[in-house]
Formats: sequence, C-alpha cells, structure tokens
Amino acid sequence: MYRSHTCGSLRIEDKGKHVTLAGWVQRTRKMGGMTFVDLRDRYGITQLVFDEQKSGELFEQANKTGREYVIQVEGLVEERYSKNPNMPTGDIEIIVDKYNLLNPSLTPPFTIEENTDGGDDLRMKYRYLDIRRENVRKNLELRHKFCIAVRNFLDSKGFLEIETPILIGSTPEGARDFIVPSRMNPGQFYALPQSPQTLKQLLMVAGIDRYFQIAKCFRDEDLRADRQPEFTQIDCEMSFVTQEDILQIFEEMTKYLFKEVRGVDLGEAPFPRMPWQEAMEKYGSDKPDTRFGMEFKELTTLLKGTGNFSIFDDAAYIGGIVAPGCAGYSRKQLDELTNFVKMPQIGAKGLVWVKVADDGSIKSSVDKYYTPEQIHQVCETAGAANGDLILILCGPDAMRCRKQLCELRLEMGNRLGLRDKNKFSLLWVVDFPMFEWSDEEGRLMAMHHPFTSPRPQDIPLLATQPEKVLADAYDMVCNGIEVGGGSIRIHDAELQAQIFKVLGFTPEKAQAQFGFLMNAFKYGAPPHGGLAYGLDRWVSIFAGLDSIRDCIAFPKNNSGRDVMLDAPSEVAEAQLEELKIALVKDAE
Ligand code: AMO
Repeated sequence: MYRSHTCGSLRIEDKGKHVTLAGWVQRTRKMGGMTFVDLRDRYGITQLVFDEQKSGELFEQANKTGREYVIQVEGLVEERYSKNPNMPTGDIEIIVDKYNLLNPSLTPPFTIEENTDGGDDLRMKYRYLDIRRENVRKNLELRHKFCIAVRNFLDSKGFLEIETPILIGSTPEGARDFIVPSRMNPGQFYALPQSPQTLKQLLMVAGIDRYFQIAKCFRDEDLRADRQPEFTQIDCEMSFVTQEDILQIFEEMTKYLFKEVRGVDLGEAPFPRMPWQEAMEKYGSDKPDTRFGMEFKELTTLLKGTGNFSIFDDAAYIGGIVAPGCAGYSRKQLDELTNFVKMPQIGAKGLVWVKVADDGSIKSSVDKYYTPEQIHQVCETAGAANGDLILILCGPDAMRCRKQLCELRLEMGNRLGLRDKNKFSLLWVVDFPMFEWSDEEGRLMAMHHPFTSPRPQDIPLLATQPEKVLADAYDMVCNGIEVGGGSIRIHDAELQAQIFKVLGFTPEKAQAQFGFLMNAFKYGAPPHGGLAYGLDRWVSIFAGLDSIRDCIAFPKNNSGRDVMLDAPSEVAEAQLEELKIALVKDAE
C-alpha cells in the first residue's frame, strides 16, 4: 500500500492515527533540530515533521530531500502547536517515523506555487510541472465538473453521445483545414474536422433525433486569447425542432451549468434576444458585453455636413459613447485613449471628446469647428449628464468605425471596472445575415455556415437580394464572448443547392464537395437544427481566466506550437517518401 490517506484528507479528528502518505515535496524548512516538509498531492498539502531527537537518521534524510522529490512517509498524526487556519490540514502534522525516497527530482525550472516565477514559455515547456500548481489543476477539475454536468443534463433530455470521425474530408468553407496525408491513397488527404457539422446532420437523417458530443475541433486560423487551433465543442443537434425549441433547451442547460458548476443562480427570466443589426448599432459587435451600458449614440446627422470640420464631413459614420463620471479626465488620460484607438490593431485616425463638467459647462476638442449650441445638442443626443465624458469616433466605413468604437467601449469598461468577472450577462444574438461579402474571395460567404437555413420569410429574396436574407441562426453570448452558436439547418436538397449557387459553387463543385449531404437529404431528412458551445470558453469564463489556454491541459502557444512536444516538427525523409510527398524548399 503506497498510502493510507491523501495529503488533503487528515483533520484533527485523525489525531493519534498512524498513517502512510505519499507525494511531492513542496518545500522543506529547517528550524533547529526539526525539519518541516510540506508534502503535496492533488488533494492538498500536509506538514511532516522530522525530529532530530527522535531519529538522527530520518532527520538527515529529510535534510537531503529536495523540492519535487517523490517520497513516502509513515508517522503519527499530531495536533499542531502553531495551527494554519488557511489550510484544511492546518490543525495537524505528521511526526515521521519512516521515510522512503520513491524518486528524486531535478530542481524544477520554476517554483511550483501559486505565484510562480516561471514565464509563459517556460511553463508551457514544462506543462507537466505547471499542472502540479493548484491554480492550473483547479481549472482542469472545473473542466471535468463542467463536462460531467453537461453529460448529466443532456442525458436527462434524451440526447445520445455519439462519436464522429476525426479523419474526414476537407470542406473549405469557414476556416482553413488541417490536412492529413493518406499513405494508402497517395496524393489524397483527409482533413481534421473544423466541427462535426455535416456528420451530426447525417445523424439526424439517420433518425438519432437528439445527439451530442464533446468533440475535438481543428481550425487552422490565427490565434487569440479565446482561440486555439485545437479546441473542444459541446456539439448538439436535434430533429423536429424550431429555433424557439433550441433556444429554450440550451437556456435551460446554461442555467443548470451555472448552478451546478459555478453555484450561480441566473434566475427565471429568459435571456434577452438581440437582433444582429441592433447589436452592431448599439455595441459595434455581434458579441456585445452587456455587463455594462455605454451604448453607442449615432451623431452622424448632427455633426456631418457643416462644412467646418472636414474629418466629420467626410465620414460615413460618427458615433459616440458616454463615459460616466469621466469629465475630469486629464490631458494625459485623453492622450492615452487617443493612442489606444490609433493602435494599428484598432486603426482609428483620432478621437474627439466632449466634457460636461460638474457645473454643466461644456468643453470639447472640436470647439472651434462647432457652435456651443451644436455641441450642446451632441450632449443631449448622447444623453450625457453633468460630470460625463463623451468619446467620439468617425470613419469612412461605418462597420469598421463601429468596431473601433466597440474596442474603445470595452477599454473604458475595463478602466472603469465595469467588467467584473463574477458578474454574468447572457443574451442571444439572433437574425444574423445569411451572407457576408468577402473581399479576399470576391464573393458572398456564409456568415455561419452553408448548411444554415434562411428565415422562411426571406427565402424569396435569395434569388434577387441575397445580401438582405437573414438566417435562422443564433449565438449565445456571455460577457462579450461568443460561447456558442447554431442554426436551423436546411433539410431540403433543392434549397441547399440554391444556397451553394449564391455562394458561387457550380452544381458540379457543390456535388463534389457536399454531394454526400445533399444526397442524404433525398432520403427523408427531418427538419433539424442545433448548436455548439465552446467548452474551453465556458470553462475559462467560469474560472475567471483571461485565456482559454489556462483550462486546456496541453495547449498550443500563440504560434500554434506545442513547445513541450516540439510540434509541429519535421518528419523523416522515408516517411515523406512513403506518403509520396515532396517538400518545396522556400526560395531564400
Ligand atoms: P462555430 O464555428 O460558431 O459553430 O463554433 C461554435 C463555438 O465553438 C467555439 N469556438 C472556438 N473555441 C476555441 N477556439 C476556437 N478556435 C474556436 N472556434 C469556435 C465558440 C463558438 O461559439 N458547427 C457549428 C455549430 C452549429 O451550427 O451547430 C460551429 O462550429 O464558442
């Protein structure tokens, strides 16, 4: 028997028991003739005492024990002289009478403590040491709890958990695929699924009725804090449902998860539903952070066309936000905000401000171009009160300018402490456009994916004004993060063919790429729809993390590398030959 108890389990009631523990040495402290060792495992830390007077030999061994050594000890549970109320085991200690070194350790490259001295790269390289830290491990425990709760909920609603393959065919819509060569079919490639989308739809054709899967997905796209090339979805699909049925069941699931896993009661009220258009106009984003207000106020008609200020006169859109209580911002603070919006990743040309002082007097950075009455009207339209600061952006491209204002709004939310990680604001964004124009592709692209159904009332517009067609699609948004999204699908082969036509596919190309799905639809496809949640995103929201990386056991870094495994890496020439692959050397 390696251990009778874990390092987190002993309490004062266990006083007098003779126990065996095993774990890692967190740290040792020598105090006169006593050496104290903190022994750690997944469950906690227990203090061990080696007393020179009781056994000089044990005392010697303890003093040779380094950090992260794996040891086994036997000893008596004693009440501590100086208790540690911050530790569940803080009332007791073990007076060691037997010591067994199970495995020594090199000195770890960073301290295995909450506030480690290890930088990101080092921690990623030695992720197995990083996971020994309580805060990282806690995230993995939360992730486990989340998955169990998901399974319980969906099982109780009759969903079947079904695995779909990882080696599938390439479907070049959406992000880039990761592709895998096939030795048995030289010159041909599998693709890793960007999501199990088409497969879950085929399961509906197969009569499964309610499916879910905690599914690995792969997308070769640029990484951000909430994106990994390999991530996990809670993927769901249902037959004989309308959008309303889906929103209701997943709202119920979300409330259940908050209660079970996070201990938060979201209440009875349904989540608000916001049309995409409104989200873009009020927040400049299809995933608005509604933990705070500061909605956009459009000022275009008010400020454009006076002939005095060409920057506004040339703009297609002028919009502002009201930062409450910020009229006292200094020159330096306003410069900081101006520099913020001018950063290349945001790309605004400048920032206009209007201050409404506590006494109601108004001052702005464009006073010389507008009359006091005009500026006063801006304050009125924006709804600014005494003590408020109005921040205004403009630009030749309304959508782009709204996105810039969105960044500024989020920045102000951060500065004013309005984005509290323990506050949760959820909503559905609905009525997305079916298509968006892609300059890169020179054609319309599906905004969600090509299997999404248009709203029934918009189908007649497909042939004439496809850009006006809205989709039967929805996203769930929590605290400004898109945590899930889905749609009612097309279940009719003809409508599917029509959508592919709008997307610029010839019938032959559509057949070659998606024939398997369109053919299946000819064999009695039920009306169906579904949704996928981003598991990593949910867990990181529940854990209050800034990046989804911290709730993934072995994540990739920002360049898509696994620095621990050193992947991706080159492969042997022989392997390439076997796959009939020749590499093209980059021109120097
Ligand atoms: P979508 O592409 O919106 O929809 O993805 C669903 C959810 O998956 C999460 N997500 C990601 N999480 C981490 N890293 C990424 N790179 C990443 N990309 C997406 C998000 C997102 O809301 N098949 C459809 C779903 C459906 O229609 O049922 C799909 O994949 O939380």
